[in-house]
Amino acid sequence: MAKVTRTPLISGNWKMHHNHFEAISTVQKLAYLLNKDDYEVVDVSVHPPFTDLRSVQTVLEADEIPIALGAQHCHWEEKGAFTGEISPAFLAKLNVTYVITGHSERRELFGETDEMVNTKAKAILKWGMTPIICCGETLDEREAGGTDDKVAGQVRAALAGLKPEQVAGLVIAYEPIWAIGTGRTASAEDAQAVCALVRATVAEVAGAEAAASVRIQYGGSVKPSNAVELMAQPDIDGALVGGASLVADDFAGIVQYHAAG
Ligand code: PGA
Repeated sequence: MAKVTRTPLISGNWKMHHNHFEAISTVQKLAYLLNKDDYEVVDVSVHPPFTDLRSVQTVLEADEIPIALGAQHCHWEEKGAFTGEISPAFLAKLNVTYVITGHSERRELFGETDEMVNTKAKAILKWGMTPIICCGETLDEREAGGTDDKVAGQVRAALAGLKPEQVAGLVIAYEPIWAIGTGRTASAEDAQAVCALVRATVAEVAGAEAAASVRIQYGGSVKPSNAVELMAQPDIDGALVGGASLVADDFAGIVQYHAAG
């Protein structure tokens, strides 16, 4: 089988931070800090809150900034009586490229189930966008030796019913819940081991070719100081960054891991 080169994807998940003015200024600062050498080797996405999407889209397109627009969530239906929800069709219309599904905060705080994560992944694909499917274990699960079962189970459930060629284009983010927003990062070896397990699970469900193409991100307290080591791991193809993505300098520092040393 031909060797597949996976372009790393560094994604900034802003969560419920930055109003649309702050979003515009953050993206403009980021565009100033990143350059052609970065965009040649790394794909970059930002995932602002829904109310910022149109503003950020306008800045990215008007200034021809090669940062992909991302969303943090969507509903799976195109339209209907779902007060407060956002249709994947609306996101596609804003030229959104990536949509996160199954983030642990949505699973834990808003009741997103494995089945919903799967249904959302299908809807995101149907509208021509790429899902970033999140998985990861709690501290209790990790300490009880349950990391592999939890993560493999979430990956199998999320991919159910997808065709191998759809799986090949996906992004899966491994985010140990105990490392999110805590300043604690999985060691590069531990993160690599679980990302390798994610790839093996993809191979089992969708075949070796899809597993070789799927991009696997690590997330959980990624910062400029640990990005180089994490990104050097063979099965880590990017990062899903929360806190450090809110500050343009920090996020640019992570994207520029490739130029370090
Ligand atoms: P963090 O968040 O980088 O602040 O740990 C990561 C995430 O939740 O995607």
